[in-house]
Amino acid sequence: MNILLLGSGGRESALAWKIKQSPKVDNLFIAPGNAGTASIGENVDIKATDFAAIGDFALRNKIDMVVVGPEDPLVKGIYDYFKADTALQNIPVIGPSKEGARLEGSKDFAKAFMMRHHIPTARYESFTAETIDAGFRFLESLTAPYVLKADGLAAGKGVLIIDSLEEAKKELSNMLNGSFGDASRTVVIEEFLSGIECSVFVLTDGNSYKILPVAKDYKRIGEGDKGLNTGGMGAVSPVPFADKTFMQKVEERIVKPTIEGLKAENIDYKGFIFLGLINVKGDPLVIEYNVRMGDPETEVVMLRIASDLVKLLEGVATGTLKEKTLEIDERAAVTVMLVSGGYPEAYEKGKIISGHDKISDSIIFHAGTKKSGEAILTDGGRVIAVSSYGKDKNEALATSFANARNIQFEGKYFRSDIGFDL
Ligand code: AMP
Ligand code: GLY
Repeated sequence: MNILLLGSGGRESALAWKIKQSPKVDNLFIAPGNAGTASIGENVDIKATDFAAIGDFALRNKIDMVVVGPEDPLVKGIYDYFKADTALQNIPVIGPSKEGARLEGSKDFAKAFMMRHHIPTARYESFTAETIDAGFRFLESLTAPYVLKADGLAAGKGVLIIDSLEEAKKELSNMLNGSFGDASRTVVIEEFLSGIECSVFVLTDGNSYKILPVAKDYKRIGEGDKGLNTGGMGAVSPVPFADKTFMQKVEERIVKPTIEGLKAENIDYKGFIFLGLINVKGDPLVIEYNVRMGDPETEVVMLRIASDLVKLLEGVATGTLKEKTLEIDERAAVTVMLVSGGYPEAYEKGKIISGHDKISDSIIFHAGTKKSGEAILTDGGRVIAVSSYGKDKNEALATSFANARNIQFEGKYFRSDIGFDL
């Protein structure tokens, strides 16, 4: 098979690594990829949202499957683009239709979907500029802290958690006045939930599903989960509190009604569903849906899938996922993200990376890197994810931390407390 993978981060490096292990794969292309994916498959200089160029490339290179890493192309409708083109419609795209991608692209849509299908989530209401006074009254009916969410995609920055009522009202006005552009023309206000979070990934062909290994990511820049939000500083799998009892609740109360709900609403969905969950006194509630894999969760989840991922994806594409087996590697997997100094605020790019090529006991997933002659340079905030196996999380972490110290670039930073709360 020839597979085209879209995206350029650590998630795509991990997907590429796993896809390439399949004996079914002849050629793997990554568009646009990074310096790491270039050594796994062949990078193609096409943006993940340039549908015309992607379609053209797929035809010229006899692509048998397109695997979509990030949300952007899905929310913009790459699945529908392929389906609507007579030459492309037989090439399966792993990912939901544009309508399905609204589960991530519109928080208001996602909340209303959960209400319709009785899926547990925080109490909420949505507001626009016309209903701002009702928004103020809804805030007054809640207790602090206040959770305000821009309805649309806001590069992971659209959620504000605010302690004071006055401040929350001010932010609501700002958001409705476009502080996040069109993304905050509608704002979801919801009740604050207190608990520990985890990420559950579901692969579905629209009828049946497989629940992939559970992971926990660490979003804040500082140790002890303090400071600014980032794309993710590390991840751990498995997650001890996501035990059999908890996961049974997740499956019955969330996974099944989600799949059934999509079916009942005739929403085409063949791909990954990412459930951002919070454990409130033993009960799972949905904080958010994403319509893709998580980053950096993928950098641990792929390590724990023992089966051939491409066979599973074929099951997704052909509606035969039920017949496929998902085997889990019982070892623990962790990843530690090396980031550029200053991230998630301003940082410099173009720093020479060394030491990454001498590591054998971790798996090095490139995130923001690029090649320049023989050198590998930093090219983003998140630079390299250092993933390791261990008999337990502590053993895996010891390996990742040791190798995180052995990789060098100017300004390198990583959190040395990943997994601290588990
Ligand atoms: P989201 O983009 O919806 O995942 O929100 C980003 C982060 O904000 C989540 O990972 C949570 O840590 C936090 N958050 C979102 N909604 C709530 C809520 N209702 N209660 C508590 N924390 C929340
Ligand atoms: N790690 C969280 C995300 O990918 O959105």
